[in-house]
Amino acid sequence: MIRIVPMKHTHIPACKNITAASEPWKTLQEGIEFRRYIVLKQAYVCINAGRIAGFLIFTPEAVFARGGYLRAIAVAPDFRREGIGKTMMSFAEAKTALRSQHFYLCVSSFNRSAKSFYKSIGYRKVGRLPDLLQPGVLEFIYWKRLTQR
Ligand SMILES: CC(C)(COP(=O)(O)OP(=O)(O)OC[C@H]1O[C@@H](n2cnc3c(N)ncnc32)[C@H](O)[C@@H]1OP(=O)(O)O)[C@@H](O)C(=O)NCCC(=O)NCCS
Repeated sequence: MIRIVPMKHTHIPACKNITAASEPWKTLQEGIEFRRYIVLKQAYVCINAGRIAGFLIFTPEAVFARGGYLRAIAVAPDFRREGIGKTMMSFAEAKTALRSQHFYLCVSSFNRSAKSFYKSIGYRKVGRLPDLLQPGVLEFIYWKRLTQR
């Protein structure tokens, strides 16, 4: 049984461990300012049997082209391929659909598993942002329509 709840400051060390073990942050050698997104009420964690199994950060308001924006998602390595990522995305999509018709996200070109994941849950690649984060690293923009026309 998993629960998705707002992230608290006490969850930050576990979330930092997940980013330290995961792409794209490993390759980019970057972290996430979790405190900032807790204050903005945009950060959530997924709890499975008392352990932090993953986290999610998103903006449900239409911030770009009538859509909300997924800033980050990650599942702890031990919990991958069990449907947790898909469950967290459904949570974000349901909250975003209350305010926006679309949902957008970016994914680094080298992040193969994330690209397969987003494709499997209905996202389409709609744009490219060359050298956005680092020279030679391309970001793809992915999009999903959340509400019927
Ligand atoms: C991407 C990520 C969040 C997916 O989470 P997850 O809980 O493992 O995903 P799910 O179990 O919900 O997978 C749903 C479907 O996505 C696809 N998928 C997920 N991971 C995949 C992988 N490594 N390779 C190929 N397809 C994959 C599969 O179709 C999968 O269904 P299946 O397991 O029945 O075949 C996880 O791999 C992760 O945390 N990666 C590191 C962080 C990251 O890349 N975040 C995205 C940054 S843009």
